[in-house]
Amino acid sequence: MSAFNIAVLPGDGIGPEIVAEAAKVLKVIGKRFKADFKLKEALVGGASIDVYGRPLSDEVLKLALSSDAVLLGAVGGPKWEGLDYSIRPERALLALRKELGLFANLRPAKIYKVLINASTLKPEVIDGVDLLVVRELTGGLYFGEPKGVETLANGTERGVNTMVYTTPEIERIARVGFEVARKRRKKLLSVDKANVLETTELWRRVVIKVGKDYPDVELSHMYVDNCAMQLIRNPKQFDVIVTENTFGDILSDEASMLTGSIGMLPSASIGATKQRAMYEPIHGSAPDIAGKGIANPIATILSVAMMLRYSFDMEAAAAEIERAVEAVLAKGLRTADIAAAGEQRVSCVQMGAAILRELGG
Ligand code: IPM
Ligand code: MG
Repeated sequence: MSAFNIAVLPGDGIGPEIVAEAAKVLKVIGKRFKADFKLKEALVGGASIDVYGRPLSDEVLKLALSSDAVLLGAVGGPKWEGLDYSIRPERALLALRKELGLFANLRPAKIYKVLINASTLKPEVIDGVDLLVVRELTGGLYFGEPKGVETLANGTERGVNTMVYTTPEIERIARVGFEVARKRRKKLLSVDKANVLETTELWRRVVIKVGKDYPDVELSHMYVDNCAMQLIRNPKQFDVIVTENTFGDILSDEASMLTGSIGMLPSASIGATKQRAMYEPIHGSAPDIAGKGIANPIATILSVAMMLRYSFDMEAAAAEIERAVEAVLAKGLRTADIAAAGEQRVSCVQMGAAILRELGG
């Protein structure tokens, strides 16, 4: 039996609720597919600040570094918003990404036919949408130096963040984009703001150069503002979108709305080796609904499917989870975020339980 160590970091807000359901899925899959998943749970984000005064303790970082994969819920909440940036819950997420070298974030957005009316967009616009955002995750504005807020001699404050990319950073994320496009419909769109930002002018040049190694993939380019518009106007034109950190953060939230709810979208953060990876829903900690038991666990459960596929080569088990999710949706189960007016709503635990039943758990 193969054994896998998984660091489970539920975090804040709805994090613990959704991760609990995803952990149950892992247990059932472990039994069915004869894999020994060793789950080690630890505090991260605000939950860690409350106990250790820091969003990511050395022990938890060590745990993440020594695990085969990390499953993360969400971090942050109003309680910690007044804290200095350096110790905010979100720092834990950024530090994990950086320390684990997870420079590529895969965020698929796929329409479920039965949820087509859950989207605010017209059915004919979103029917058939199946795209993947490849977001650069350890560079750009999020990490660039200099950064911070300073007070000038005249009392004026000056805030700075720096968007910076080096050739190797662009090359490696471009390669991920081309590789995943190759396994899909072989279309890669690189999104930049090359008409204004020098950094992204370099981005475009490097992506074109890397593209020479992938003649079978059709490469195109779009400015980020146009892309934001095209995502709503005609999302079916997209297959794989590769873009820098901040653009990817924004565009992937936008893409999630094509599918009806951000509560449906999983993600995988990967690096240069298969040894390290982190899986998390793309949504946040949703403090407004935390503790009410109404969160949608599907994004986290689908993140487990991505974990099985990318980190553990368990394609059959991953497909089984995706099938189970489709089956419960087809049966009409809806958490609040995906329920149309008048449709009955199930709780987070009920949704998890229904998926477990589909999996034979
Ligand atoms: C995401 C989130 C994070 C980000 C926050 C919580 C730091 O929005 O994963 O998209 O900005 O990357
Ligand atoms: Mg985001």
